Amino acid sequence: MRTKTLTMAALATATALTLAACGGGETSGDGETAAAGGDGGGATMRLALNQTEEHPSFIALDNFGQRLEEATEGRYSINVYPNETLGAQAEALQLVSDGSVDMAIVSGTQLENLNEDFLVFNLPKVFDDVEHQMRVVNDEAIVGDLYASLEESNNVTVLGGFTQGARSVYTTDGPIETPADLAGKKLRVQESDLHIAMAEAMGASATPMAFGELYTGLQSGVVDAAENNEVSFWTQKHYEVAPYWSYTNHLVGLDYLIINSDLLAEMSEEDRAAFDAEWTAAYEEHTELWATATEEAIANAEAGGATFTEVDEAAFTEVLEPLAEEFITSESQQALYDAARAAAE
Ligand code: GCU
Repeated sequence: MRTKTLTMAALATATALTLAACGGGETSGDGETAAAGGDGGGATMRLALNQTEEHPSFIALDNFGQRLEEATEGRYSINVYPNETLGAQAEALQLVSDGSVDMAIVSGTQLENLNEDFLVFNLPKVFDDVEHQMRVVNDEAIVGDLYASLEESNNVTVLGGFTQGARSVYTTDGPIETPADLAGKKLRVQESDLHIAMAEAMGASATPMAFGELYTGLQSGVVDAAENNEVSFWTQKHYEVAPYWSYTNHLVGLDYLIINSDLLAEMSEEDRAAFDAEWTAAYEEHTELWATATEEAIANAEAGGATFTEVDEAAFTEVLEPLAEEFITSESQQALYDAARAAAE
């Protein structure tokens, strides 16, 4: 029943689901999921991911599914669809909202477009490191209201976060050292006003683009630079077309696990408790895998010809710090920011 590699049938199902969702119609389903509107008896949940099967997120989620299946005596399990098979993150979010897909991993930048409070955790320099970030984003007292905030408006519940690690800039034509070196370069960013402003503050011109289009974008010269973590630099093979990594360390990024709220509400208390416990184990496993995956990614990319260069990090910090003041415009955002900073050591 569990599939790690997509069959043609699964691909066809995914396409049909996407089409049905785009047309606003009901999905026919394939017996694989109860999704929204089921009887609470369980489901094999479809989870949309935009990473490869080597990525720590795939591994931790796949293990999560297996443990969940055991813990619920087969009532609930998870099929992780990697590589944007169920759509890029913006579509996946929409599909989870309408119940055609059950769960997804989406970057914080996507949620910022639904509720601006999420942008606080997408700010450069809000988190000092992965450890600090994970302490904040899985603390119910800080994030409880935020994570429930999309339930009424979008029928989406946020369950918690996986780190994206520290993000840095990489380029097609030689390393950079200061913001001035990014002048005239087209830097791909995620689809977020904040990150557009971030790229501009760093001296580049910003080009928002979906993750799955980036390899071709770098290869064809639509963009000259991107920013991400070493793990994606390696697993997406971006080092092949933009091999000059420069350690700007401008941001510790965050991915969220989201689920259709109706589906979550249908779970029995017992199954929900198992689900929550296994999700906690999943983000803990992910954080552990992250450190090793980062080291391996660096070694592999270097062996593939990439270079890793230190930059004048203080010069980047100086241009990035004003973004917090510029983008924090409400009391709720300020409260999240203050709570996040207070948790720093
Ligand atoms: C990271 C992150 C993804 C995100 C991607 C991006 O790889 O884990 O969720 O989509 O960055 O830059 O788009």
